[in-house]
Amino acid sequence: MWLDRLVLRDYRNIESVDVNLDPRFNVFAGINAQGKTSLLESIYLISTSRVLRGSRDVEAIRDGAEESSVKGILGDSQTEIGVNLGRGKRKKGLVNGLGLPRASDLIGRLPSVCFWSGDLTLATGDPAGRRMMLDTELSQVFPAYLKAFSIYKRALEQRNALLKQAQERHVPNEVFEGWEASMALQGGIMRQFRLDWVKALRPHAKATHAHMGEGEEFDLQYALKDEGELLDKYSELRSQEIARGSTLFGPHRDDLELFIEGRPVRQYGSQGQQRTAVISLKLAVLHSAQETLGFPPVLLLDDIFSDLDLGRRVRLVEAAMQAGGQVFITCTEAEQAGELLQNAAKVFRVHSGQVSNA
Ligand SMILES: Nc1ncnc2c1ncn2[C@@H]1O[C@H](COP(=O)(O)OP(=O)(O)OP(=O)(O)O)[C@@H](O)[C@H]1O
Ligand SMILES: [Mg+2]
Repeated sequence: MWLDRLVLRDYRNIESVDVNLDPRFNVFAGINAQGKTSLLESIYLISTSRVLRGSRDVEAIRDGAEESSVKGILGDSQTEIGVNLGRGKRKKGLVNGLGLPRASDLIGRLPSVCFWSGDLTLATGDPAGRRMMLDTELSQVFPAYLKAFSIYKRALEQRNALLKQAQERHVPNEVFEGWEASMALQGGIMRQFRLDWVKALRPHAKATHAHMGEGEEFDLQYALKDEGELLDKYSELRSQEIARGSTLFGPHRDDLELFIEGRPVRQYGSQGQQRTAVISLKLAVLHSAQETLGFPPVLLLDDIFSDLDLGRRVRLVEAAMQAGGQVFITCTEAEQAGELLQNAAKVFRVHSGQVSNA
C-alpha cells in the first residue's frame, strides 16, 4: 500500500498543494517553519484519522480558513481517501468522496508508522505514553485488540465511577462483579497481545539499535503491574481501591520498559541514544506490522537527523531504505539524507507552504 498523490487545501500553513509522490522514497527538505512536518502530519491524518500535534483538530485548519481538506490517492487501486476538518463541524473521513460513518473508519486503508519529535517521550516520559503507543499500534493491525481495548476501557471507566460512588454510599459487590469480569477477560486478552507483540518486536528493535549504535545494546520488556488472576485481584483489593477511587491493577497500569546497556533509557540515555532507541522501536513496529499485514506500512520520519552523529544518520537511512515500503523523510537540508537516499529519492523543496521538485 502506498500513496501516489497528496492533495491539500488549507492545512496548517499550506494553502494548496498537489504533489505526485515516489512509490519508495520521498524527502521533504526546507528551512524551519516552512511546512515539512505539516505535510507529513497530513499523511498521518488520512492514515489514522488523527492530527499528530496538539489535541484539537481545528488547530490544523489554516488560520483564516473555515475548512481544511486532505486527500490521498492510493497507488495501484487509485482509491481516494480523505479527511475534512471544519470549524465547529465534526471531522469527516471520506473514501472516493463518500463520507464514512466515523472518521476512524479510515484506519487500516493506509497503515503507517510514524516517528516525530513528540515520540521521544516514549523514552523520556511516563508509562502512559508507552501504553498509548501499544494501544495505537496494536489497534491498527489487530481488530481483535481494538475490540478488547474498547470494551476494557469502558468497563474501567464504569468501575472507577463505582469506586468513587462507594466512598459515599454502599455499592453491592454484584454491581462491581459484572464490570470486573469483563475487565479480567478483556484485560487478559490485551495483555496476551501486548506480551506476544513485544516478544516479536524485541529481536528487531535490538538488531536495528545495535546496527545504528555500533553494537550498543538495547532491550525492551513488557512489565506487568501485578501477578496472578486479575479477577481475584479486583475482589481482594476492592476496599483499598475504593479508598483511592481508582483501579490500581490491570493493563492500564502496565509499562513497556526500555533499556540501553542494561540501564533504563529514561534515566541514563543520552539524547542520541534515546532517539536511536525510539527510532529502532518504530522500525521494529513497522517490521512486525508488515509480517501481520503482508505488506509494509508507510514510514513517516520527521526531523530524524537532529541529535544523531553522521554514522548513526547513515545507518538510519540504510535501515529505513531496507524497511521495504514507501518512506517519507523531512530534513532541513537534503544533504543530511546522504547521497544514497538523495539519489534514490524524489526530493521536494518545501518553502512557505509550497512544494516544488528540487
Ligand atoms: N493552523 C495553522 N495555520 C497557519 N499556519 C500554521 C498553522 N499551524 C501551524 N502553522 C505554521 O505553519 C508553519 C509550518 O510548520 P511546520 O511544523 O510544518 O514547519 P517545518 O517545516 O516542519 O519546520 P521545522 O523545520 O522547524 O520543524 C509554522 O510557521 C507554523 O507556525
Ligand atoms: Mg518540522
